[in-house]
Amino acid sequence: MRDERLISPHYIGAEDHQENTSLRPLRLVDYIGQSKVKQNIQVFIEAARGRGESLDHILLSGPPGLGKTTLATIIANELGKPIRKTSGPAIERPGDLAAILTNLEPGEILFIDEIHRLNRTVEEVMYPAMEDYCIDIVIGKGPGARTLCLELPPFTLIGATTRPGLLSSPLRDRFGINCRLDFYNEMELLMIIERAAAIMGLCIDKEGAREIARRARGTPRIANRLLRRVWDFALVKGDGVITAGLARMALNSLEIDECGLDHVDRMILEALINKFGGGPVGLETLAAVVSEEGDTLSDVYEPYLIKLGLIQKTPRGRVATEHAYKHLGYPLAPAWKSELFNLDDTAPEESE
Ligand code: ADE
Repeated sequence: MRDERLISPHYIGAEDHQENTSLRPLRLVDYIGQSKVKQNIQVFIEAARGRGESLDHILLSGPPGLGKTTLATIIANELGKPIRKTSGPAIERPGDLAAILTNLEPGEILFIDEIHRLNRTVEEVMYPAMEDYCIDIVIGKGPGARTLCLELPPFTLIGATTRPGLLSSPLRDRFGINCRLDFYNEMELLMIIERAAAIMGLCIDKEGAREIARRARGTPRIANRLLRRVWDFALVKGDGVITAGLARMALNSLEIDECGLDHVDRMILEALINKFGGGPVGLETLAAVVSEEGDTLSDVYEPYLIKLGLIQKTPRGRVATEHAYKHLGYPLAPAWKSELFNLDDTAPEESE
């Protein structure tokens, strides 16, 4: 299903694509936030450059919209190497991957988005490619068949995933560098919005930028998208300047609340509370009630609802926290509920 939500961290249209290519930082110094990841990557890049070797394979994980593709492009720029971008589902057969790998230039970056969606037969071609820069080719059929190792140029694989837990361990183990991107804080988003506004030539004051930052779900892609929509309101309903009041009016009109939740987030919380007594309820059941895919619920909506402490994953399913009841203005969950499900403890996550 095409994702039309304004606060979806997925790409939703041509404008988003334009926005992303022009606003994306090209160098590490211009990349705001993720400071630990950035520091480490800087070291690995310098070390690889110093040794004159290709950079070790990197796995970037984290919720959508946090800048995994941007970071991969920056790494290629910093190394002065080309980057070839593809995605797990786009590589259907082992031959597709072999064609990509044999056409890489020495030191080139191969970026595979949604790497957890590579199929097993393709993955098996990837193992020797990552480890020994070679692919095994079977020549002939039957008892006379022989396996030849075809040498590849040294390359760096950067895999991006929203679901690191779904990677097979042989694949995961072949990444020498593992970076987890986390949601951005308000200050970082404020800086990202101010940077984007300057590039786009918009008039925005600090409090206007702060209001958008506060409601951007910790996600730069959403921050930049909201900035464009608020700008629309500034041009049509205001005097072209994005102030706090204007931003608040625009975001309220777009039904994005003070925490950045939209109508789908509220539907999820309301379904949990009203239809399932606050939970626990299984992922697929909850997804069906709000007409979403289970994967979309767990990759796109849940991470931020969990971060805000509005829902929790327990071994028996998703549970609305007291904070969710308060957020929606409902009377609090009965006391027995939090005791029964140990909501105050860090409960082990439900496996999927
Ligand atoms: N635009 C999107 N993500 C960004 C980031 N992390 N830093 C600067 N600009 C961005």
